[in-house]
Amino acid sequence: MDRRIKIFDTTLRDGEQTPGVCLDIHEKLEIAQSLVKLKVDVIEAGFPVISKGDFQSVSQIAEHIRGPIIAGLARANKKDIDAAVQALAKAERPRIHTFIATSDIHMEYKLKMSRDRVLAMAEEAVRYGKQFVQDIEFSAEDASRSDWDFLCQIYGRAIAAGATVINVPDTVGYTTPDEYGALIRYIKQHVPGIENVDISVHCHNDLGLAVANSLAAVQNGATQVECTINGLGERAGNAAMEELVMAFYTRQNYYKAITNIDMKQIYRASTLVSTLTGVDVQINKAVVGDNAFAHESGIHQHGMLNNPLTYEIISPEVIGISRNALVLGKHSGRHAFEDRLQQMDYELDKETVNALFIKFKELADRKKVVFDRDIAALVSDKPSVQPEYYRLAYHQVVSGSQSVATATVRLETSNGTIERASCGDGPVDAIFKAIEQAIGFPIGLKDYQLKAVTAGEDALGESTVWIEYEGDVFNGRGLSTDVVEASAKAYLNAINKRLTVWGQPQEQITIGCE
Ligand code: KIV
Ligand code: ZN
Repeated sequence: MDRRIKIFDTTLRDGEQTPGVCLDIHEKLEIAQSLVKLKVDVIEAGFPVISKGDFQSVSQIAEHIRGPIIAGLARANKKDIDAAVQALAKAERPRIHTFIATSDIHMEYKLKMSRDRVLAMAEEAVRYGKQFVQDIEFSAEDASRSDWDFLCQIYGRAIAAGATVINVPDTVGYTTPDEYGALIRYIKQHVPGIENVDISVHCHNDLGLAVANSLAAVQNGATQVECTINGLGERAGNAAMEELVMAFYTRQNYYKAITNIDMKQIYRASTLVSTLTGVDVQINKAVVGDNAFAHESGIHQHGMLNNPLTYEIISPEVIGISRNALVLGKHSGRHAFEDRLQQMDYELDKETVNALFIKFKELADRKKVVFDRDIAALVSDKPSVQPEYYRLAYHQVVSGSQSVATATVRLETSNGTIERASCGDGPVDAIFKAIEQAIGFPIGLKDYQLKAVTAGEDALGESTVWIEYEGDVFNGRGLSTDVVEASAKAYLNAINKRLTVWGQPQEQITIGCE
């Protein structure tokens, strides 16, 4: 009988700790909904005590998302646990995930606490949380660099205090498959009560071993794996969910383990997370990279034509990629469009479909063929910030090799429209400066990215812009076949996000052509 492995998704917590990633509440809810469709067992929704925004997003997810367990992270102290309990109050199946570091290096230099103090705090935290929530996960941070007997002691105390899951994080991505597998086996043999709880693993990818380490842990008794979509996470990231799930599926004969994941949702979830976070999926990334199913060499292509199994161990349809991605054009009608949305598994209300159909027609007029990727981009291209303080109503840019680029923008606001012009170092710089002048305060542009959604000279351009204010980073997205317009929309999207969090600043500026 194959073992059922639980999938604990931490895209919204550890994944959100990816440098440069900043998701607003609507984006987090959208990702949580796609995790429900994926049928993950646990969604780690955030770290409630860390900020007002995190608290609100955990509460919203707890209130609106049904199906998976919703976990909130908390250090091993009352304040953190109280915040998690409060944020999870409306969850159907709440879990508190509490942690404390157990390696000598962390205890001496970070916590400045003795082993006895750490043991006591872990036990107190689990006991305290248990008064409010039945399901308590206890993590020993930096477990893979901790003394094994001390680890067994702390897990034993946590279980006795009521922990339902014990997690063994490889916090700094230091371990190796053999060593980690042996540690899990050791814990299984030496911790009293371990047979009554889930053994969870949480691997970081600093040596590129996160997935291999997680798989080795499962072979040695782990029952839950913690992972993120596209392997997002602190530093080099966490174990990638799609890789773990497809390893269990493709090598079921070897691992004798299954998950509950609906694999058809994998590609869509990966694209959504990449779009919303602005973090591209590496082109040759396993399972979801653009090249994962591309066959370049003649010998491979020949084999593939005779029998796809010659060179393809996963068929793209299994993860929700359709082989004939070419779908619609300007002669396609509403029926064909709705049909395609359905095939792509979007459940949208009538109003949204109407609005999307208008956008689709505009796009089909500009672009010869519309691919699934274009449709996915249109679906995800909605103002994610409410209210939208500034909206691009009109723009005009003049640029050339012999002239200074100049841009004019008209922005719509709740107080009417503002029109400004500026020059700049190229068209994008000019339009960003015109926008900055129109809104009247300085924007700390941190990074800017532009890419084509699909191939071809008429492709949709997708721009991502990162801005920074008071240490907070906000990313914005914009989509258009006109790349300057896509950039301006992305810039305004980031500005609107900043205004939602920080309000209108006092400083005013005037920038003009010199
Ligand atoms: O990497 C880590 O140790 C963590 C814990 C909070 C589980 O993310
Ligand atoms: Zn982590």
